[in-house]
Amino acid sequence: MTQASKKAYITTPIYYPSGKPHLGSAYTTLAADIYARFKRLDGFDVKFSTGTDEHGLKLQRAAEKEGLTPQAYVDKMSDMFREIEPIMNISEHTFIRTTEDYHQKTAQVMWQKLEEAGYIYKDSYAGWYCISDESYYTEEELVDGKSPMSGHPVEWMEEESYFFKLSAFRDKLLDLYERRPELVQPQSRLNEVVGFLKGEVRDISISRTTFDWGVPVPNGPGHVMYVWIDALTNYLSVLGWPNEDNMGYWPGVHLVGKDILRFHSVYWPAMLMGAGLTEEQLPVVYAHGWWTVDGDKMSKSKGNVVDPESLTREYSRDIVRYFLMREVPFGNDGDFSETRLIERTNSDLANALGNLFQRVLSMVAKNCEAKVPTLGELDAADKEFLDGFKGMVNDVRTHIDNLQFHKALDTIWSRVHAANAYMDAKQPWTHKKENPELMAHILRVLMEGFVPIAHTLDAFMPESMARVKEFLGTSEMTLTDIENAEGYLLTDGAELPKPEGVFPRIQPKEEAA
Ligand code: MSP
Repeated sequence: MTQASKKAYITTPIYYPSGKPHLGSAYTTLAADIYARFKRLDGFDVKFSTGTDEHGLKLQRAAEKEGLTPQAYVDKMSDMFREIEPIMNISEHTFIRTTEDYHQKTAQVMWQKLEEAGYIYKDSYAGWYCISDESYYTEEELVDGKSPMSGHPVEWMEEESYFFKLSAFRDKLLDLYERRPELVQPQSRLNEVVGFLKGEVRDISISRTTFDWGVPVPNGPGHVMYVWIDALTNYLSVLGWPNEDNMGYWPGVHLVGKDILRFHSVYWPAMLMGAGLTEEQLPVVYAHGWWTVDGDKMSKSKGNVVDPESLTREYSRDIVRYFLMREVPFGNDGDFSETRLIERTNSDLANALGNLFQRVLSMVAKNCEAKVPTLGELDAADKEFLDGFKGMVNDVRTHIDNLQFHKALDTIWSRVHAANAYMDAKQPWTHKKENPELMAHILRVLMEGFVPIAHTLDAFMPESMARVKEFLGTSEMTLTDIENAEGYLLTDGAELPKPEGVFPRIQPKEEAA
């Protein structure tokens, strides 16, 4: 396969722009960014998309509350979601808004294909609707008369409606997930989806007549599309479907929160199959967990919503990116606490990593004429240390492909710890006077290890690693260069810039007080 033909597609959910983006929404976008950056560093041509889900009753009501037209309201709010990109250092991507013309046309094409294939019919709908979830529930599903998902109120709706024959896909999906369990990850989420499919799967109402803030149903005057039919189609609009030109990126990976799993692994594959896509053209769905804050659910009323902007301003973008990916295994729920962020930054970044880089690079700057030192003969400990890096890039790659960001970091940190242990055992500074060649040799062995560490960490902490790569003189190297290098990664005698510390220690809040 040539480099250019390797393509990857990663998406985030499109966010309801009904409030300011918080840590939860920044999290999925960050995870997608790390995947996208890593794939690019690994020679892939990557499409990365995110955006805003701007139709539906929830947004129409929010606009009314502010005395704005829905369009004026979503224009204003969608901009807030774009602001998160520089705040979290999100790399190149497509930002889609479902009110854009090209998307509305795609949603209509999707509708027509489903209709032509006989999966859409007209009937009347009566049931409970939760505006906050934009979801329908049956009487039995309600918990204390409220939404079983969010606990928000539901309203009785009765109207003429188009229906999607979701029931027709139940057995197909069960059979599919039996054969291709990798389509829903992690495994625990697949079990949830299969459990749902084993129950009674009803057809779903997919149009509304009681409000008009939505994509018009083709040839269905007075009806707008159910917001999820419109929203899910965004993943295809981004690629220009049904035009085939960009479909080389498809199917790709959808990152979603656990609360919207059913839409992505039941409704969406059913829609795709209904519209004529094959089984091989179904995307992977990875559902991550939810963040709480100091043990509590994040909510405006509790006033504990974590604001990514103030967080990155206080601690730096790289530190926040690292912490969110390292603290909680992707897929699990996690608890956010600033105390933990400070502890992790100090132990992992300032002590283990930053100190190591700085000690070695400043010794080289002072004692080796600021040039890449020359290697002597390797002893058993040197060999063991360097051998430990063989296969490391590939191990990290495998974890990233499996969306196991914390494992990728674990793999990298096991080498960081090995480097610290090697340095403690070899004590290069003790040879400065009587055997400077040996000191230079040890420093060079360490620097050879720094290269794969810095390059695999680049996707997580792009700003700090750009500097470390510069200090090592390896900015131009790719991951494949590192893997395929036959000899050593650095060149004897190459001049190096003056190194500086990249991760200063943060003073814990109690100490500061
Ligand atoms: N608009 C739909 C998605 C349509 S995708 C075709 C939607 N939007 S949302 O704004 O309500 O939620 C977007 C994402 O944010 C979801 O994946 C949700 O899980 C995630 N999060 C919201 N709060 C969160 C946390 N506290 N923690 C982690 N993720 C959370 O649903």
